Amino acid sequence: MESALTARDRVGVQDFVLLENFTSEAAFIENLRKRFKENLIYTYIGSVLVSVNPYKDLEIYTKNHMERYRGVNFYEVSPHIYAVADNSYRSMRTERKDQCILISGESGAGKTEASKKILQYYAVTCPASEQVQTVKDRLLQSNPVLEAFGNAKTLRNDNSSRFGKYMDIQFDFKGAPVGGHIINYLLEKSRVVHQNHGERNFHIFYQMMEGGEEDLLRRLGLERNPQQYQYLVKGNCPKVSSINDRSDWKVVRKALTVIGFNEDEVEELLNIIASVLHLGNVQYGGEDGIACITSDTQIKYLARLLAVNGSVLTEALTHKKIIAKGEELVSPLNLEQASSARDALSKAVYGRTFTWLVNKINASLAYTDDSYKNYSVIGLLDIYGFEVFQNNSFEQFCINYCNEKLQQLFIELTLKSEQDEYEAEGITWEPVQYFNNKIICDLVEEKFKGIISILDEECLRPGDASDLTFLEKLEDIVGGHPHFITHKLADGKTRKVMGREEFRLLHYAGEVNYNINGFLDKNNDLLFRNLKEVMCMSENKILRQCFDREELSDKKRPETAATQFKASLAKLMEILMSKEPSYVRCIKPNDSKQAARFDEVLIRHQVKYLGLMENLRVRRAGFAYRRRYEVFLQRYKSLCPDTWPNWQGKLSDGVSTLVKHLGYKPEEYKLGRSKIFIRFPKTLFATEDALETRKHSLATKLQAGWRGYSQKSKYRKLRTSAITMQACWRGVLARRRAQRRRQAVDTVRRFIKGFIYRHKERCPENEYFLDYVRYSFLMNLHRNLPKNVLDKSWPTPPAALAEASEHLRTLCMQNMVWSYCKKISPEWKHQLEQKMVASEMFKDKKDNYPQSVPKLFVSTRLSKINPIKALKGYKARPRQLLLTGSSAIVTEEGKLKQRIDYAALKGVSVSSLSDGLFVLHVPSDDNKQKGDVVLQSDHVIETLTKLAICGDKVNVININQGSITFTAAQGKEGIIDFTPGSELLVAKAKNGHLSVVSLNNLLFTLASV
Ligand SMILES: Nc1ncnc2c1ncn2[C@@H]1O[C@H](COP(=O)(O)OP(=O)(O)O)[C@@H](O)[C@H]1O
Ligand SMILES: [Mg+2]
Repeated sequence: MESALTARDRVGVQDFVLLENFTSEAAFIENLRKRFKENLIYTYIGSVLVSVNPYKDLEIYTKNHMERYRGVNFYEVSPHIYAVADNSYRSMRTERKDQCILISGESGAGKTEASKKILQYYAVTCPASEQVQTVKDRLLQSNPVLEAFGNAKTLRNDNSSRFGKYMDIQFDFKGAPVGGHIINYLLEKSRVVHQNHGERNFHIFYQMMEGGEEDLLRRLGLERNPQQYQYLVKGNCPKVSSINDRSDWKVVRKALTVIGFNEDEVEELLNIIASVLHLGNVQYGGEDGIACITSDTQIKYLARLLAVNGSVLTEALTHKKIIAKGEELVSPLNLEQASSARDALSKAVYGRTFTWLVNKINASLAYTDDSYKNYSVIGLLDIYGFEVFQNNSFEQFCINYCNEKLQQLFIELTLKSEQDEYEAEGITWEPVQYFNNKIICDLVEEKFKGIISILDEECLRPGDASDLTFLEKLEDIVGGHPHFITHKLADGKTRKVMGREEFRLLHYAGEVNYNINGFLDKNNDLLFRNLKEVMCMSENKILRQCFDREELSDKKRPETAATQFKASLAKLMEILMSKEPSYVRCIKPNDSKQAARFDEVLIRHQVKYLGLMENLRVRRAGFAYRRRYEVFLQRYKSLCPDTWPNWQGKLSDGVSTLVKHLGYKPEEYKLGRSKIFIRFPKTLFATEDALETRKHSLATKLQAGWRGYSQKSKYRKLRTSAITMQACWRGVLARRRAQRRRQAVDTVRRFIKGFIYRHKERCPENEYFLDYVRYSFLMNLHRNLPKNVLDKSWPTPPAALAEASEHLRTLCMQNMVWSYCKKISPEWKHQLEQKMVASEMFKDKKDNYPQSVPKLFVSTRLSKINPIKALKGYKARPRQLLLTGSSAIVTEEGKLKQRIDYAALKGVSVSSLSDGLFVLHVPSDDNKQKGDVVLQSDHVIETLTKLAICGDKVNVININQGSITFTAAQGKEGIIDFTPGSELLVAKAKNGHLSVVSLNNLLFTLASV
């Protein structure tokens, strides 16, 4: 542990407990000196930190330093204020107990600086979210504001806190600072109106004057010169070399914004501060002892700045109003009374504004998250230190009384309680003698007999009570007290150094003479009713909150300042007692605020009254650490297999087993009745380290266990879900399948039944089948309709649909025909009509008809086709046949050979064979005629069809078999014989007939005929 420290760190001893000669004050001081010389300002006495003010900047408060102390055990690093801060923080987190850090020491010893360092340490090292950052900023920024309004230069300290401050920093369960709360104690208001020589008023006045913009000062009616203001000239020390008012002003202005002041609020606040300066300059004059205000300017400014009625204010500043037996009495004030009324107003305005400021800061620091209230707290107490001046007044009395109380608390919590505890626990122990200052606390605060009670009594007593009568009362009542002396009670030597208006208290920290002048007034802290009334009427929002109207109607006399202070201190003690304390004892090395000056006399004095030697002795003889058995066992039981996870049996035996297992040596610890006492911190730290390591392995085990468990349950859940889903899905599928099968079976069954009943009347058994058969016929028909008119296919219908099928077929055919016809051209129609006629005439009658069917008829064949041959005298000659509307004309190359009127045409004869011969029969009695015309055409069907159509002679066409008789010229008869053969042959036969052998398929048929 200690090996980590550098040689410099090991100058002297860093813990007085390690001092060889621990009872020697000289050795103690020597150790302090050695370290101070090396700028080692911090030294421990056990867990108490002793700090000597270096009066210079040491490079020991950097972020690196903070990191070095973060989360590290107290003794592992050199002593530092950060170690105390970190230790409290860790105790708060691990033990979940509220902590407080008590910083004590006389004025100028470095308390305020120490508290700021602690706050900075938390601000930097604690975990933070964005919201926490705001809180941190506000916590930090509250300091410059409160210091501006509550600190002043005194002879002891250029930045002396003139109010007491207890600040709670609230941490959430993650250890992040989430809020804060400040309690302020008794502000030294008298400083507003009066300062001793070499001292200043509160910083804010000088800051505003130095740093305020021209415009602001004009608005406030102020000049940039402190000498102009009565309240700033008394100490005759407006400038201090160590203070830069101008830059401080900027800091304060910025801090006000961070805390959440808006521009209006800042303006109102500054109005109040300026009005105090104006009040100080209100001058009185007057005759007959009756005061009146001599200059109006101040009143004008005051009326505006305080936002009150000027004349009412003037009246209130020069008169006093009392309510006696329900009646209001107004009486003028004399010069002296008027001045003190004015000063009382200044003090009241400033004092109440200061309290308002603290409340405002508290509101901005308030932890607003109500969802979980369980935050932990570290309290920081930075209160005015013990102080002795040439002239000490009521304020010093209060301040020093406060320090007595804190010393008492220190004794209670360290020396006394420690020794009481050893006794109670039955630990062998040699008591350490120390001075218990309870006797002085009692002298001040005891009911009826204490100084405060006597003071209050004098204040409340009717009649001519004065500071002097108070002193007399004191002499009467506490005159015999060993810590109280007055001029009258003192021996000759002391008398020389005491005034007649003083009393001396022998404080734990030294003797202080208090001048009784002003005690009664300051304790009464009275403000005339009419002044209160004026302030209640103010339009300034801050003042309205500071001066409550209810106060006017409250008949009860307010508590005196000393009693209020006593009560607030009692409350503070309660707060501090409820927390785990850590101590920082600040020592001031010299009275001249100089660096590197070690004033041994001054330091010895402080060491003495701070009780550091006794502290050390108790520490050396005692034990650094103690815990109740159950707490100790609970915390460390995991370090020993016998006590883990639970110890069954007596707690002391459990602890004994545990420490033996841990290897504690007998001199390192003692077992009391209910607690274990551990002598050295290092023993405990070693145990803590072991626990830390153990925690890791426990955590790993727990994590592993938990991970396993959670994964297993996750897996089980997934598995069950998968199985459930599978089962459901399988069910769905099976049901679907079953349903399909059922449907199929039903269908098959219905089908079979239907088939069986198919010939029956329509009935439930066969209707499905019948429908199906119909349906399938129709569907089949739909798919296989005939493609064209010639396609004669048609599906066979079921019996029930036979009729419908026929209808459909007809319709279909009609439709096809209709669409065919629609598509037919007129030429084609004509062609078909001719073909139709040809068919009627020749189909199945003439052999070469089928060959003619595919050949299209044309209107003329003269150019293309062989000329038609006229057979005459059985000699073939080429002729042309022309068919006109009325006659058939035979020509020979354009020459008319024969005209046959259709009307005269008796008939037309052809053979049934496939020859091209035909005969046009004309009447024989017609002389002009040359007999029947015998013609041969290669297109006999076409020719005859056209002839029949033109002459309307369809019915006169004779188709002859075997032979045709015709009339030749001059009425001679000729015969044409037709025989089928293999080759077309036309010739005159021996019998004089014309023999025609025609190609004929039906050769045999004909032959047989
Ligand atoms: N740790 C420190 N390092 C440097 N200077 C310090 C330190 N502590 C105190 N001082 C100086 O001493 C002065 C008085 O300290 P302060 O904390 O105001 O005293 P106290 O609050 O005890 O009256 C400070 O203004 C500062 O100049
Ligand atoms: Mg201070």
